[in-house]
Amino acid sequence: MSRYVEVVDAEALRERAAQLGEAIAADYGARRPLVVAVLKGAVPFLIDLTRHLPPDIEIDFLSLTRFGTQGRVGIALDVSVPVAGRDVLVVEDIVDTGLTLATLRRIFTARGARSVRTVALLDKRPRRIVDVPVEYRGFEVGDEFLLGYGLDWQGRYRNLPSIWAVMDFPAFRDDPKTFDALVFPTAARSQRSRP
Ligand code: IMP
Repeated sequence: MSRYVEVVDAEALRERAAQLGEAIAADYGARRPLVVAVLKGAVPFLIDLTRHLPPDIEIDFLSLTRFGTQGRVGIALDVSVPVAGRDVLVVEDIVDTGLTLATLRRIFTARGARSVRTVALLDKRPRRIVDVPVEYRGFEVGDEFLLGYGLDWQGRYRNLPSIWAVMDFPAFRDDPKTFDALVFPTAARSQRSRP
């Protein structure tokens, strides 16, 4: 079996983002949602998704800190506008344990948002700890570690145009260059020829 498998290609990602965008646009109708993307992983998805939303939506960002694998979630960078009375649409790259999303929903609800909904590109349902609603989801995935299209390992690989599953995580961690050579063949060549 290959160590790395491309689980969603670039075309499928764009197509699914378009479908989700159209469904969201139809559901919100004349309401003007505050679209809040969770940094940094949701950025590629946000771009593809919002191309299919009406031009009067408002986009904002929020960044979180996480302490420990099941620990508390804190806000590192907050949204720049008040959310009271707004229809907040949270854009997430992936829902895993659900801790991040549960915290976000709690925060926005406590601040008086009129509604809070979530669009998540990926749903890793088998790993859920907190039962949290996900109103719009792109793809259900297994519990493999995923990279690309916003998803990272140590801040790397977010810029890959498609999503890859790492089938043997310890082997990847010990030798990520094998993956680099597969997904960035040119970069691997130029590294080798560097003086
Ligand atoms: P949750 O709070 O456990 O649901 O965590 C969601 C966050 O975990 C995502 O926004 C990602 O940053 C990160 N994450 C979860 N699974 C993966 C993965 O397979 N690859 C990269 N990051 C992941």
